[in-house]
Amino acid sequence: MCGIVAYIGNKPAFPILINGLKRLEYRGYDSAGVALYENSGLNVLKKEGKVAALEAFAVDKASDSTLGIAHTRWATHGAPNDVNAHPHLSADGSLAIIHNGIIENYHSIKAELHDKGYAFESDTDTEVLVTFIQDIRDTHNLSFEDAVITSLSKVIGAYAIVVINQDNPDQMIAARKGSPMVIGLGDGEYFIASDATPIVEFTKDVIYLNDEEIAIIQRDGYRITNTSNVPLIPSIQKLDIQLEALEKGGYEHFMLKEIFGQPESIADCMRGRLNARERKLTLGGIREYANKLVNAEKITILGCGTSWHAGLVAEYILEDICRIPVEVEYASEFRYRNPVIKEGDIIIAISQSGETADTLAAIELAKSKGAIVFGVVNAVGSSIARATHEGAYLHAGPEIGVASTKAFTGQLTVLTMIALKVGYLKGTITESQYGDLLYELESIPKKVAQALETDKRIQEISAKFKDATNCLYLGRGYNFPVALEGALKLKEISYIHAEGYPAAEMKHGPIALIDENMPVVFIATRDSSYEKIISNIQEVKSRKGKVIAIVSQHDEEIERMADFTIEVPSSHEALMPLISVIPLQLLSYHIAIMRGCNVDQPRNLAKSVTVE
Ligand code: M6R
Repeated sequence: MCGIVAYIGNKPAFPILINGLKRLEYRGYDSAGVALYENSGLNVLKKEGKVAALEAFAVDKASDSTLGIAHTRWATHGAPNDVNAHPHLSADGSLAIIHNGIIENYHSIKAELHDKGYAFESDTDTEVLVTFIQDIRDTHNLSFEDAVITSLSKVIGAYAIVVINQDNPDQMIAARKGSPMVIGLGDGEYFIASDATPIVEFTKDVIYLNDEEIAIIQRDGYRITNTSNVPLIPSIQKLDIQLEALEKGGYEHFMLKEIFGQPESIADCMRGRLNARERKLTLGGIREYANKLVNAEKITILGCGTSWHAGLVAEYILEDICRIPVEVEYASEFRYRNPVIKEGDIIIAISQSGETADTLAAIELAKSKGAIVFGVVNAVGSSIARATHEGAYLHAGPEIGVASTKAFTGQLTVLTMIALKVGYLKGTITESQYGDLLYELESIPKKVAQALETDKRIQEISAKFKDATNCLYLGRGYNFPVALEGALKLKEISYIHAEGYPAAEMKHGPIALIDENMPVVFIATRDSSYEKIISNIQEVKSRKGKVIAIVSQHDEEIERMADFTIEVPSSHEALMPLISVIPLQLLSYHIAIMRGCNVDQPRNLAKSVTVE
């Protein structure tokens, strides 16, 4: 949550900061601001709303300063408005800060500062933190650097901060604990950001700051220290992101680009790993611990939101193919409920961003109990990728739309490859089943491309349901998690209330909701529960519900019953979620657009949930 970007160098900072904020806007977009070093004082410009509103407001007020910090906010403390927007100034105006995270003990610090006579303009924990730094500096006569380090040793919570100082036009100080931060090393210039997207067009050399590390960046060089001010040797890494991946490439929205990019992103995920003709499946990232997976007595999968749904599909596949019992847990519940985890237990943590605070904390808890943690992560170099013992990247490229689409199919692809590999090594699938499934998996990009051809039909159906206020999504077996995912997509971007259920559970309650106004989306492709789901469709029809069914090609039986059908290509049932989710992504996209919603940046949401 919240995006931060900072620049020190030889170019005007303002355009770099504004463009950087636009790249980071997926992380939060309720208000934005910049602070520029100027001889007359720190020039802070802030505005409620999107980065574009800040840009319009600030463009004629910003100087050519070559040192500045900027922030796009997802509110945690205090309403989204101009005053609560970052950057915040210390009480005396000498320091400016941007902050991503939450200072949990800010109440007690604020009370102490109040007693000393300080007053605050905003409701934020961040303004308290910057005034705390100022107070420590002034009370103990410390340098700027020592004041930052001392104050951070007294705060509890998560932060990625950058602080600049009116008394020093050549320096900025950054620190992180629990919130991501990347430093870009340019030629006579430095960039700091929440992720690499604002940096990539300037330099490929980056340092991912670790927890409890502090970076002191000067115009003529930088130092990284720990919280005891002991110098550290940073590891400089090369970025592997292309600029085009961060742009819309002719699509109206990132979400649409990402939906239509799935044939390619799924193929990228398998590239160099899967070759069905040669019966080769190589997952370099799980080599060292492959035996542990094969011999696992149980696997626990952790994730949030869409990643949790991918985990549910994986539960079905891993149990089916590998005969290993699987539990899928919301990371947010797991971390607080004293779970039974023993030395050597196997955990798979799933995350697109690699920064989800609950998932990260759940991983640390599992590791503290001796578990081996595999990561299934999209964002390269992210905190979760680095916190796990081994893992496999999705290679789906940056996902920018807040609604997760290509990351979901990338997660399913990686998890399926893991299951196939383990099932094969364990001997729980036959040689011929293994070979067939490799071929099937390899053909998925082509089938996803065919599923995308339903777009026109889905637009027509969307027009009929755009004014619905509720919607049910029902599926059985492998398609049950897909129903959950379809419902999540619809509610998060169109604000229509939607619920996903196993189709058979409908008669234990939700059936009471069904009347002639209730759209019910069935994921009813031909699989082992096909006959059963037909009965469920009949139950809905006999109560006058409106049925939209995702079906296999040429399914005349369901076509006769349903109000609308959307045909998708067939595959092995374990792989069908990769295909059947596509029309659901398109349905939510078109309905949201027809309702005038901002699909890339839905209200109240952020792409990376780095607070719990
Ligand atoms: O980055 P992660 O995969 O860890 O994020 C988990 C959820 O926050 C995320 O999937 C969220 O539910 C999406 N907005 C769903 O589209």
